[in-house]
Amino acid sequence: MTADALLLPKAELHLHIEGTLEPELAFELAARNGITLPFGSVEELRAAYSFTDLQSFLDLYYACMDVLRTREDFRDLAAAYFERAAAEGVRHAELFFDAQAHTSRGVAYADVVGGLRDAVDDAARLGVSGSLILSFLRDAPVEQAEAVWAEARRDLAGIVGVGLDSAEVGNPPGKFAAIYAEARALGLHAVAHAGEEGGPEYVWGALRDLGAERIDHGIRSLEDPELVRHLVEHRVPLTVCPFSNVRLRAVDTLAVHPLPEMLSAGLHVTVNSDDPAYFGGYAGQNLQAVAEQFGLSRGDLATLARNSVTASFASAQRQAELLADIDTWEAADGA
Ligand code: ADE
Ligand code: ZN
Repeated sequence: MTADALLLPKAELHLHIEGTLEPELAFELAARNGITLPFGSVEELRAAYSFTDLQSFLDLYYACMDVLRTREDFRDLAAAYFERAAAEGVRHAELFFDAQAHTSRGVAYADVVGGLRDAVDDAARLGVSGSLILSFLRDAPVEQAEAVWAEARRDLAGIVGVGLDSAEVGNPPGKFAAIYAEARALGLHAVAHAGEEGGPEYVWGALRDLGAERIDHGIRSLEDPELVRHLVEHRVPLTVCPFSNVRLRAVDTLAVHPLPEMLSAGLHVTVNSDDPAYFGGYAGQNLQAVAEQFGLSRGDLATLARNSVTASFASAQRQAELLADIDTWEAADGA
């Protein structure tokens, strides 16, 4: 019954494009750019995917990005993602990109965004629509975010919103308030990671200081009943990433993941993959795993897919197309 969760039409709303760098591609790009990775082989690199918390992952995540140097690299990275996503039923994807992690290494912003735009444009031939979310690194000096923002705002083609990521605890959202206010004034959407490792106060901060319309992760919101009431009342979507939460030890096991409680609390939950190359699976596999773990029905899965579409920043027309396709999937016999 759950096997065709992989084919269920859906939107991926929480995906760091740098987190789709599979080890094979990392070595290919390293060779192309004449870079030596601090790992001898694909197997050795994969063996390093054992994390104790968010920071231990971020250390490896940023180290591997060193292989991304040219516009072509960014295009190839995103093109590989779109191929995989299409094969797993993803029909719309909003890609976070960590521009500062590249500009701080001397890579031109224009090459980063240019390569990603090339891949987004090309994904149309796979039936996948895509857009970009410029994410600021909350653990870097705010001046660095301001510098990237000053460059990005000159040409926002393909960029649908701004986001906030990297190490959460000790880095509350408030210092990014001015950038977010400018971005919102220019018509961009506002999202932010909050309540992943940090407590409910980070979610409140993202809502109040940044005007976040969507919260990335948000699993710790459940610790604050008033916050849950607020999120339900205002239908604020939460982009939950089950494999990520287990691999980064935000939760002990999938069996105790709070997804069922979040759904029964009436929260607008979506299921996503975060950094699938590092965490063991893309959006369809995350959905399939929670369906098996929690015995979700075909109707429950369709609800999660509908949530992903209505929480997306896709046009009303695109959302309507995808919702119709989900209805068709739900009505079909998935045996
Ligand atoms: N950057 C990439 N993945 C992330 C995560 N899960 N949390 C915060 N920042 C990230
Ligand atoms: Zn994330």
